[in-house]
Amino acid sequence: MSEISTSYPGIERVVFTGDAIAARVRELGRAIDEFYPADEELLVIGLLKGAFMFFSDLVRAVGRPSLKIDFLTAALYGDGTDASREVQLIQDTESPIAGRHVLLVEDIIDTGKTLNRICDVISGRAPRSLEVCAFLHKRIAGELRYEPRWVGFDAPHDWLVGYGLDLGGLYRHLPFVAVIDPEAVRGR
Ligand code: IMP
Ligand code: MG
Repeated sequence: MSEISTSYPGIERVVFTGDAIAARVRELGRAIDEFYPADEELLVIGLLKGAFMFFSDLVRAVGRPSLKIDFLTAALYGDGTDASREVQLIQDTESPIAGRHVLLVEDIIDTGKTLNRICDVISGRAPRSLEVCAFLHKRIAGELRYEPRWVGFDAPHDWLVGYGLDLGGLYRHLPFVAVIDPEAVRGR
């Protein structure tokens, strides 16, 4: 399947293979498990849509029995690669946050706007703790008020698709991460 998908229109090169991702996710799951006291419940919140695939693999790699999941949907005004967008919370969690260990799972940190905004909202609800696990980090964010405790990989400064990441809604389903040429899929 991967061999066929790597030749989709606009895909320039694979950056992280499915196997490399799976190995890294196992490490992250172990590290997260060790970080929290074994008898304390963890609420893992996935940021949709981008984190959906990473989130589902990650929670399966966390071994503890006492874990709950929830989701938030954030969106950027506009659909594209423009860094001057505003973050909007379009769907909130069902779970109460106060007094709980919250782990926010994000797909990728680019400008850091999304993370800053969402973490402000969550920390305003008085969680017992708030940590961030980001699948990818471009390391270009100017002001990051909440440093992720766990990062899957440092990412190149290109536009990336696959494993949840999209360009105009396309290519979230790819089982690997690749660099895309935005020009090649423009207008589709
Ligand atoms: P930030 O708010 O600029 O840090 O951007 C975070 C959001 O922008 C992520 O949650 C993604 O949805 C999206 N994003 C940033 N960089 C990429 C990329 O290279 N590919 C796909 N989506 C990206
Ligand atoms: Mg996105």
